[in-house]
Amino acid sequence: MAEKKIIAVVGATGAQGSGLVRAILNDPNGGFAARALTRDVHSPKAKELAQLGADVVAADVDDIGSLKRAFAGAYGAYCVTFFWAHFSPEKEKAQASDMARAAKETGIQHVIWSTLEDTRKWVPLSDNRMPTLQGKYKVAHFDAKGEADHVFAELGVPTTFFLTSFYWENFIYFGMGPRKGPDGKLGITLPMGDKKLPSMASEDIGKCAYGIFKRGREFIGKRVGIAGEHLTGAQFAAAFTRALGREVRYNEVSPDAYRKFGFPGAEDLGNMFQVNRDFEQPFTRARSLSFSRELNPSLQTFDTWLMQNKDRIPLE
Ligand SMILES: NC(=O)c1ccc[n+]([C@@H]2O[C@H](COP(=O)([O-])OP(=O)(O)OC[C@H]3O[C@@H](n4cnc5c(N)ncnc54)[C@H](OP(=O)(O)O)[C@@H]3O)[C@@H](O)[C@H]2O)c1
Repeated sequence: MAEKKIIAVVGATGAQGSGLVRAILNDPNGGFAARALTRDVHSPKAKELAQLGADVVAADVDDIGSLKRAFAGAYGAYCVTFFWAHFSPEKEKAQASDMARAAKETGIQHVIWSTLEDTRKWVPLSDNRMPTLQGKYKVAHFDAKGEADHVFAELGVPTTFFLTSFYWENFIYFGMGPRKGPDGKLGITLPMGDKKLPSMASEDIGKCAYGIFKRGREFIGKRVGIAGEHLTGAQFAAAFTRALGREVRYNEVSPDAYRKFGFPGAEDLGNMFQVNRDFEQPFTRARSLSFSRELNPSLQTFDTWLMQNKDRIPLE
């Protein structure tokens, strides 16, 4: 059998990257091998990936030298940044730029860049429907990624621009799950009106990315969006009600009220939901469900994800 093509996976111990590493390792005859990048090769998650069969190597996206070493000899690279680790769009742009330069210098043949839309194309800074954040962004964690797209393009890195969606794991880890209201009834709170939010199981992101690598050069230079479902707040609540066997309501709030919730990132997320709400059509159109299922035939629905994960959702 021909030598396997190595995919270097940034964020390999995280949500997006670990799904890709597992997708590669679960397909031993697929022709690909996983190189898992982590800052700490001795962490329990890194060791777990090594045990599954990944080549685990040290790299830090703040250190371009380490990226070049980790990308050397690889066919592909999955590149992702970590906004919620530092809340800095400037840092995300610098890290994306270093990944693009490292990919260029090491001759990577296919990069999947985990990006998002630069929302300022719909809501310019002069548009006062939402506040401008950090001086020059509307949705900092979207805009910085979108702004970084041009670096991959200008360096001539063979890149698929990969638009991901809201993770259902946010209902577990991000405090977005059902909460009891003053009347004791459970509710989920979103500022989405009656509009649909593209969303998915984070594990499916890596599986879709693997589907793209398997299709060879087909999506190089293209923008590819994925989602498991497009759901309204009321549909999320109805699915929770079915899964939990008790009523969960949709508490619709205004984006302004959401921005004022005060947790770190509330303003950014308030703006994000508002852009998703006000530009429902382009957001959902960019993330075709049938195409996502074509890339990843085991794509989960929210109901199937809830069946497996409902007990992990903190309800109080
Ligand atoms: N939450 C959502 O709904 C959602 C939806 C779409 C897109 N996103 C985007 O997803 C991105 C985060 O991806 P994720 O959720 O896969 O991340 P994650 O689960 O938080 O994992 C991040 C992993 O990256 C590694 N990492 C952190 N800083 C690093 C650094 N300086 N150098 C190298 N590795 C580093 C860490 O691994 P080690 O500790 O092993 O190094 C960690 O396990 C964010 O930018 C966010 O905007 C999120």
